[in-house]
Amino acid sequence: MDQTGAKKKTRVLSGVQPSGEAHLGNYLGAFRQWVHMQDEYECFFTIVDQHAIVGESDPAELPRLTFDMAVSLLAVGLDPERCTIFVQSDVIEHMELAWLFNAVAPIGDLERMTQYKDKAARLESVPAGVLNYPVLQAADILIYRAGAVPVGEDQRQHLELTREIARRWNAKYGELFPEPEAIIPEVGRIIGLDGNAKMSKSLGNTIGILDEPDRIWERVRTAVTDPQRIRRDDPGRPEVCNVFTLHQLVTDAGLIPDIEQQCRTAGRGCVDCKRILADSIADAFQPFRERAAHYRANPGEVRDILERGADHARSIAAGTLAEARRRMGIDWRSAIP
Ligand code: AMP
Ligand code: TRP
Repeated sequence: MDQTGAKKKTRVLSGVQPSGEAHLGNYLGAFRQWVHMQDEYECFFTIVDQHAIVGESDPAELPRLTFDMAVSLLAVGLDPERCTIFVQSDVIEHMELAWLFNAVAPIGDLERMTQYKDKAARLESVPAGVLNYPVLQAADILIYRAGAVPVGEDQRQHLELTREIARRWNAKYGELFPEPEAIIPEVGRIIGLDGNAKMSKSLGNTIGILDEPDRIWERVRTAVTDPQRIRRDDPGRPEVCNVFTLHQLVTDAGLIPDIEQQCRTAGRGCVDCKRILADSIADAFQPFRERAAHYRANPGEVRDILERGADHARSIAAGTLAEARRRMGIDWRSAIP
């Protein structure tokens, strides 16, 4: 309860890398929940440019990608009056807390992260930032002492590590950080248009949530369906077809039984089935395209939202960091009577 007697809302933090415009996997796996959580929780959403630099990011592109992600977040319905949206690098306190966490984060755990192993396997020389990435992620979350973190399935392991870092730090320096809960939607991993791998910008298998209808169709047309359905008359198997999975996620529920039936009986070919999917996506995201057009035409509004968001975030982050420093003895003035 606060002074007015109102029940205090649980604080939430989540983040997204500035990969340009968001895709369907981001939306179904994360942003849709974020939008729904804005009223019940005290929400912080951050665009993590400091995380992006340890990937393959291009300095010439990063500013625009960061701006475009802000537009995507506003377009899907995050409302700056009801949540705090900011760019990670504007709240430099995250970086220092990440360093303080390096004092307790176990290397063995970091080396066990799937995302680290995948990236390291592809690189000849692995930058330390790839290993330390989840330590910064823990700082992003714990600096707000967030109680809940809505993320996609792929982030479960990083959240476990965040909890481990909180436990170890608290055990050594005294209780300060809550162990945050991961809130993971039932949809699980959204599979890309290749029908095989996680939908991800770096794999080129995405549908952008701000794509125009023509572009959505161009993309959906390339989607891999049931590999055993070769000829138009072959019956399909919706249970193995990613197009059907996507239908279940975005197409009007009343149409699903017909789509399933027509697939099984080869009543409808894959191209027509994809056409329906492309239309569902284009219709569902129409309001997003409209809001995005508004913000692109008014970039100063986006800047003001991000700056206000950073000011608010910093006011909380600074308090947590000061306490963490003090407990760790980064406080030489206290030696002077
Ligand atoms: P990223 O683009 O990797 O920063 O991801 C931002 C958010 O979207 C995170 O919560 C991810 O877990 C989620 N996400 C990204 N791709 C997918 C996907 N293919 N399926 C489900 N969730 C996803
Ligand atoms: N690692 C997350 C991803 O790739 C992004 C992220 C960074 C994040 N910091 C976070 C997510 C804090 C949740 C909370 O998707």
